[in-house]
Amino acid sequence: MKGYVESAPLAEARAYEEHMRAFVDEETRPCFHLSPLVGWMNDPNGFSCYGGKYHLFYQYNPYKATWAAMHWGHAVSDDLLTWDYLPCALAPDAPYDDLDGCFSGSAIELPDGRHLLMYTGVAAGERLPDNTVRQCQVQCVAVGDGVNYEKYEGNPVIGVDDLPEGASSEHFRDPKIWQATDGTYYCVVGSMGADDSGQILLYKSADCFKWELVGPVDKNGDRYGTMWECPDYFELDGYDVLLTSPQFMLPEGHDFYSGNGTLCVIGHKDEETLELHEETIETIDHGIDYYATQTILTPDGRRVMVAWMQNWDTISESPMHRWFGMMAVPRELHVRDGHLVQWPVRELEDRRHDLVSYSDVAIEGTTELEGVRGRVVDLLVDVRAADPDKPYDEFVIWFAQDERFHCSLRYRPFSGTLKINRIHAGSRRAYVHHRKLDVPGAPTELSLRLVLDKHSVEVFVNGGTQAMTMTIPTDLSADAITFFSRGKVVMDVKKYDLA
Ligand code: FRU
Repeated sequence: MKGYVESAPLAEARAYEEHMRAFVDEETRPCFHLSPLVGWMNDPNGFSCYGGKYHLFYQYNPYKATWAAMHWGHAVSDDLLTWDYLPCALAPDAPYDDLDGCFSGSAIELPDGRHLLMYTGVAAGERLPDNTVRQCQVQCVAVGDGVNYEKYEGNPVIGVDDLPEGASSEHFRDPKIWQATDGTYYCVVGSMGADDSGQILLYKSADCFKWELVGPVDKNGDRYGTMWECPDYFELDGYDVLLTSPQFMLPEGHDFYSGNGTLCVIGHKDEETLELHEETIETIDHGIDYYATQTILTPDGRRVMVAWMQNWDTISESPMHRWFGMMAVPRELHVRDGHLVQWPVRELEDRRHDLVSYSDVAIEGTTELEGVRGRVVDLLVDVRAADPDKPYDEFVIWFAQDERFHCSLRYRPFSGTLKINRIHAGSRRAYVHHRKLDVPGAPTELSLRLVLDKHSVEVFVNGGTQAMTMTIPTDLSADAITFFSRGKVVMDVKKYDLA
């Protein structure tokens, strides 16, 4: 790129990555979930299509498998599942804007063919009476050729002066950019409003460099957690959808657990102000490890979502690996009957091989099925009561199992609760190890898809109307899968290995 000069911190990060490439141990890595080349990964950033490839950047500390000094890591893919690492794209090196971190953001292609990254710059702000320094968050851009990015000399493009009255300059982050059909660029940014509660601010621009505030598209009003992080706002199936990841939530039944969570707001926007009129509000993923979603519109018109397959409340250090953090499998999104539906990208089906299939298997008690095991598998299980007049008490799938450890998925039709559980999966830490969801209508028939990739499971219920995601700490040798029922059930099982 013309005029591009690699800063010393970026050159150092890239040299370190190059050096560490020799130590990448494919055996411990997930097969089709992106993990960092080395060091720490959190949120997906800059998910975009550029130069005929999918680009996925991520919050990244190359030097250690713990969060610090946020850089942007970078990977590209043809199919959303196999990722090639490119050199680190951004380092915290701009004295006034981002010395304390290049936080989350997004990307878009400019009309002149350059790739624009829009991110939150974090730098020291005001010194407080107790001598601590309040961080200041502003929105910055960098333009590049898909490998090298030059930070704009006019940064920040959205500064604290562009905040509405009373909004916090310390909690103002994660811009998600898009272009409307009339050519106008928009971005939504997470913000803490004057009421100390989250809001999503909308800005508009003719060129991506000069931005003006439009107003809030939605406000938390102290309902779902505090600050709303990582917003995304798009049209889907005749609805307008806002995704965000609230901090410090409170539970409501089996929805919205304490801590960091995910939120999907579905409704219709005001055509003038683009403000969202809320109709449905729901959890995106009911599992343990899913946060900071970001979507892309693929060239063939699919709305595809990625997320960090982790949660701030459940991170543990990873002594075995030089890396920490994975992205969840990209999911195709739809809105059906006013609710979000998510399903792994169809590209995953091209990876299936060695089908093992069973139909109408009647079970009561514990059952193993010949050929059904593995830690990199796509498992489809349809279960129903053997006698419709005699409902069963519970149905369980144990997986990532050996004599000592297992994870489980347990369904109780009387209450309609589905519970994912890794209490006995080998973790020595006292963080969250199980979660429940309510299947609407508490049916006796249930359709489950479990996508396992070494260190994780993603569960899709009834065609993706609900999802539960969880990382698995168990050694990879624990690969048995067992079925159990109390009361008679009949199941159809299909298991594919995934390449
Ligand atoms: C969400 C988040 C973002 C922030 C980034 C920092 O996980 O807290 O709001 O930009 O992580 O790494």
